[in-house]
Amino acid sequence: MLTSSSPILVTGVAGFIGYSLASHLLKNGYLIIGIDNLNDYYDVTLKHARLENLKSFSNFKFYQANIAERSQMQQIWELHPEIMHIVNLAAQAGVRYSLINPFAYIEANIMGHIVMLELARHRKGFKHFIYASSSSVYGGNTKLPFSVEDRCETPVSLYAATKKADELMTQSYAHLYRIPSTGLRFFTVYGPWGRPDMAVFLFTKAIVNDQPIQVFNYGEMKRDFTYIDDIVKGIVGALNSPPSNETALPPHKVYNLGNNISEKLLNFIHYIEDSLGKKAILKMLPLQAGDVQESLADITASERDLNYSPTTPISEGIPKFIKWYKEYYKI
Ligand SMILES: NC(=O)c1ccc[n+]([C@@H]2O[C@H](COP(=O)([O-])OP(=O)(O)OC[C@H]3O[C@@H](n4cnc5c(N)ncnc54)[C@H](O)[C@@H]3O)[C@@H](O)[C@H]2O)c1
Repeated sequence: MLTSSSPILVTGVAGFIGYSLASHLLKNGYLIIGIDNLNDYYDVTLKHARLENLKSFSNFKFYQANIAERSQMQQIWELHPEIMHIVNLAAQAGVRYSLINPFAYIEANIMGHIVMLELARHRKGFKHFIYASSSSVYGGNTKLPFSVEDRCETPVSLYAATKKADELMTQSYAHLYRIPSTGLRFFTVYGPWGRPDMAVFLFTKAIVNDQPIQVFNYGEMKRDFTYIDDIVKGIVGALNSPPSNETALPPHKVYNLGNNISEKLLNFIHYIEDSLGKKAILKMLPLQAGDVQESLADITASERDLNYSPTTPISEGIPKFIKWYKEYYKI
């Protein structure tokens, strides 16, 4: 079991999920060493605002660094010989941007991931490597719900391919060096302090500004939307449940963190409209390259092993997001 005296390295700490996880752990007395390169993939002021909140905790230390830079990461690592847990959330996220800037994905998600694995590999007594995978690894799969037992070799975006590659690289390191590792396939995470490139944020912004919202596949999309607090609970569950290193198998497990409900996109939009008290202008468009039509997580293994149990339906989660959005943007 993780204790509050063990510092945890969280990469991508100024990002949506990294920030939310770090806030929760800091409030519970954990020591957090945070890393982020604060890149400008989306509004950097939001990343700085998250970081300012984290810096109000005395048990937080931050380094602005690129996880793909080996020597920079090595220097930071040597300053903290006590770190035995890594949560690697830094990545180039977003499916659509991977069609525009593929190299950003290779640098952060492939090079960055191997740099983090190498740090773990060379630390004597290292305890647990947790990293972000994605529901997008299920790609062209048609069997629902998506189960971690399913094969997933048909990525429909480079982003998905890099996340699957992360899982494979980690498997090889767990096999070779016995590094206890857990990969978490997040399903469309939303909530306060969320990512401006994701649907709930884009839709809210457009409705507030009387702009049309782009509804892909003519609204015939379904997503397993997962509220941020449930995701944080899932990551904490993983921190408390490292895979056993006592069997002959490589100590590496992969889990789905979803809400286990597939919501119609148009239904999701209705909740945003209701919370804002304003109608959306819909611009119906065909399916975008790289998108999957439907996602739904089978969370049986996460419930069993991580004590994971999502409790927030979109009817509760969307109003909480809208409340934060209005406060943050002073609307
Ligand atoms: N939000 C979701 O719905 C979702 C779904 C599936 C998977 N994920 C994965 O979860 C993780 C966190 O996602 P998020 O939604 O918080 O995204 P985010 O973009 O808000 O956070 C990622 C953070 O990593 C930082 N970063 C990027 N490249 C870096 C590098 N080379 N070195 C250091 N820092 C770097 C960014 O500045 C950013 O602050 C990512 O790995 C993402 O791929 C997210």
